[in-house]
Amino acid sequence: MTFKRIDGRAIEEMRPIKAKVGVVPNADGSAMWQQGDTIAIAAVYGPKELHPRNKRDPETGMLRCTYNMNSFSVTERIRPGPSRRSMEINKIIEWALSPSVMLSKYANLVIDVHVNIIQADAGTRCAAINAAAMAIAHAGIPMKDIISSVSVGKLDKQLVVDLTKAEEDFEEGEGPTDIPISMTHDGKLTHLQLDGKISGKQLKEAIEMAKKATQEIYEIQKQALKEVGKEIIGGKKKWLK
Ligand code: CDP
Repeated sequence: MTFKRIDGRAIEEMRPIKAKVGVVPNADGSAMWQQGDTIAIAAVYGPKELHPRNKRDPETGMLRCTYNMNSFSVTERIRPGPSRRSMEINKIIEWALSPSVMLSKYANLVIDVHVNIIQADAGTRCAAINAAAMAIAHAGIPMKDIISSVSVGKLDKQLVVDLTKAEEDFEEGEGPTDIPISMTHDGKLTHLQLDGKISGKQLKEAIEMAKKATQEIYEIQKQALKEVGKEIIGGKKKWLK
């Protein structure tokens, strides 16, 4: 029996994607990543002097990420300002991207990456990482590779790619497990989170599914970086209808 997803997608099918580089003219680099109803805008400022001075590192630069969900991004208004969740996601974005950014070139300096979620339907940290990676590249900051991120979920016993909020709320059987994964385009993991229960064997399968999906994401990011200012469409081509 084939597993039926709420929105009719195939198991390994991502939501439709829109990506655009160069969306915040005043920033040094910027990008938009939309995946289904989740929209992230990233703006990069820097490298610039780090204040306070005692935070400076003469060996390396600092990547400082600030993730923010706009009050209007979900139907239940979000209280403005930092929260425990947003502070966790700041670190997640920094950890996911840092292995790729050539920070050693920027001793004593900071690169500020701001990500705003203007609409949320799950997978916002992954959309934030995809947008931020493009914005850093657009700012001309050297990276070893673009980082691409996707969430793989386990709904009861079934693995699926790119969960929606409705899927995250799935309550049958073993319930939902959300596994956001970020990697380089040659498949090196830079971030993996696991919220729920999964066997080692299924986790390996989830990573393989993420590898395929992030390849697709990488191609869209690359295309958007080549054609600054142009909206690139990918994933399920529903956008075109
Ligand atoms: O967004 P992501 O999947 O990375 O993180 P999450 O903490 O697992 O949140 C999942 C989803 O719950 C978000 O994308 C939003 O759609 C929703 N959410 C919400 O409605 N209100 C919040 N304060 C936080 C999250």
